[in-house]
This record gives sequence, structure tokens and C-alpha cells, in this order.
Amino acid sequence: YVAEIDASDLDKGAYPFYMLKEVDEQPAVLRRLLQNYQGDDQQFAFEADMMKTLLASDRVYIVACGTSYNAGWIGRSLFEKLAKIPTEVHLASEFAYDLPLLSEKPFFVFLTQSGETADSRQALVKVNELNYPSLTITNVKGSTLSREASFTLLLHAGPEIAVASTKAYTAQITLMAMLADALRAAKGFEASFDMERELSLVASIMESILAEKAEIKAWIDANLMETRNAFYIGRTLDYYVSMEAALKLKEISYIQTEAFAAGELKHGTIALIEEGTPVIALVSEETVGAHTRGNVEEVKARGANAIVISMQDVAREGDTFVIPKVETALSPLVMVVVTQLLAYYTALGRGLDVDKPRNLAKSVTVE
Ligand code: G6P
Repeated sequence: YVAEIDASDLDKGAYPFYMLKEVDEQPAVLRRLLQNYQGDDQQFAFEADMMKTLLASDRVYIVACGTSYNAGWIGRSLFEKLAKIPTEVHLASEFAYDLPLLSEKPFFVFLTQSGETADSRQALVKVNELNYPSLTITNVKGSTLSREASFTLLLHAGPEIAVASTKAYTAQITLMAMLADALRAAKGFEASFDMERELSLVASIMESILAEKAEIKAWIDANLMETRNAFYIGRTLDYYVSMEAALKLKEISYIQTEAFAAGELKHGTIALIEEGTPVIALVSEETVGAHTRGNVEEVKARGANAIVISMQDVAREGDTFVIPKVETALSPLVMVVVTQLLAYYTALGRGLDVDKPRNLAKSVTVE
């Protein structure tokens, strides 16, 4: 097998680092996915056999590592909310050695950009021993996990070179959104929004965020560069995006960054807040957002440098970055872009090798 590589994909061109190139490619990747999985009749097209197997299953188990694991949490929300399929998310390195009690008809989804991660493969070996159906969602055609799973869906994101994963994360979420929508339609549930139209809108809004790079960079230079630690907080989808945002910032800037479900701060973590500690809150939706804003006030009262990234319809005076509105279920796709740029410019400002952070590898083939 040969991965779909175009020579121009491997050229950084005018970009100082692959990471920025890959962040910029996200709207194009999203549109490519829409095109590649476009079926007739305003429906997304997926292999009939896979759809049949998925529809016959009673529970989806998403298994992954790192950034793919973080994308898994968004996938869970999409599968449950849109297609009403109970879904669990598991770390591959834990799953293989401590199998959860499985449902009667489980279906496994392996999320893996490279398709080669040893921990995920180990879990797939286990699933195959038990003879359960599986799907690998990967960026690499013919990769090990793709060959060994029952079904494969390709991310069509083009090669991702920077160790910090960006476009693979948004491609995974986009593909899971389309799959969840196809499952919803197959089950005969009414759509609460037009997935194709909303995803196109997401691509345009990603572009508008990417056009604001200079502003984001200037803000970071003044606010984030010197800190030793930082926190991301959010609730539900904003919490899952926080997990990815924290991973991105810590892995390339070496700032100790952790994500917390905003409601949990008061149960321990708030003890870590000192004068000037950056606490970045993600607020994409009103109901949980109002609670998150309450938590922002609590950390501010203890000296935190609170930063709010919000969505237009729920934005308030004084928010640091405001993003145009998209459908709540898809908010991670746009919220994450701001956090990718935060991580990128912080690492850049610190003079680090953004594409090759210390101690890390793009693809980890040992357990
Ligand atoms: C490595 C990379 C991460 C990636 C993880 C899982 O640790 O540095 O960026 O998220 O592997 O990789 P996968 O290819 O399975 O998505």
C-alpha cells in the first residue's frame, strides 16, 4: 500500500513549521472529507456492510491514545446525541489489559492518525481474538490498524508531519460527525440541523479564525509567554476540547498545562491558583457556560489571569476571543483552532522547535 502523498504535501513552503501549515490546512481537509463521503440525496455515503454492522450493535467502544483519544470524547457525544448509540471512550494502553465488561453486541472504533500506535494495536489484537467487529479511522491507507480491523475510514488529511497533531484531530471529529449523521438518518431520527451545511459553515469560520493569527499572537506575547503553568477549564464539550488544548500547549511549549472539568475545580484544583496563573475557560454554550463563568469568577477572586474563549451568541463583554456561532455539537471544531494557535505561538515565542518537541515521537510503536 502507498499512502496518498502529493509531493507538495511534504513541502513546508513559506511556513516556518509544519504545525502552522497543518493548522491552516484544516478548512480544506474538512471540505475534502465532505466531498469524499458525499452520497446521493443529501446523505453521507458509507460502506453498507459497515453501516449494517454498526446499526446491529448495542454499544460503541472508542479506543485511542493521545490526541485521538481526546477526539474520541467528541465522537462519543456525537454518536450518543445524534444517533442515540451508547458510546464509551477508552485509553488503548489501559483497555488492552483491563477490558471493561462488554455489552452483548459491541462495536469498536479505533481512532489513530498513523494507524501504527502499538497500544491501540494491542487493543485491536484483543478485540480480534474475541471476534468482535471493528472500524479503524486513520489517516494512513494500508496502515497496520487499518489492515487488521474489519472496516476502515480514511481521514484524507494529507500527511501530518508535526508531532503535535492538529488537522488529524479535526478530521477525526468531522468524520465522526458525518458518520453519526448517517447513523441517525438510517435509524429514521429527524435531523436537528443540516450536517453538511453546518460543516461547510465550520470550514468558513475556521478560515476567519485563521485570518486573525496576528491578533492571537500579539495577545500571547503579552500574556502567556512567561508562565510556568496554566489551566484550561470547560464543561461537557468545552471540557473535552480543553483536554486537547492542554495537551497541545504542554507538549510543544513545556508549560505544565492541565484541563479540568470546570465544576471540579472547587474539589481540589483551585488550591493551585496563585497570583497570575493563567486559566483559560472555553464557553461555547449558554447552559453549562453560565456555570463555567461562575468558576471563572472564583479563580479570578484568587488572583488568576482568566482568559475566556467564547462563542458569539453567548459572549460577554470582556471575553478575550469571540468565535462566530456554529451548531453546538460542532463547536469543538472551531474552538480548538484558537487553542492550537495559542500553543503554536507560545512555543514559537519561547524559541522552541515546534515540530519536534523533546521526548516525543510522531508515532509510538512500543507499548
Ligand atoms: C503520539 C503522538 C500524538 C498522537 C498519539 C496517538 O504520542 O505524539 O500526537 O496523538 O501518538 O497517535 P495515533 O497515530 O494513534 O493517533
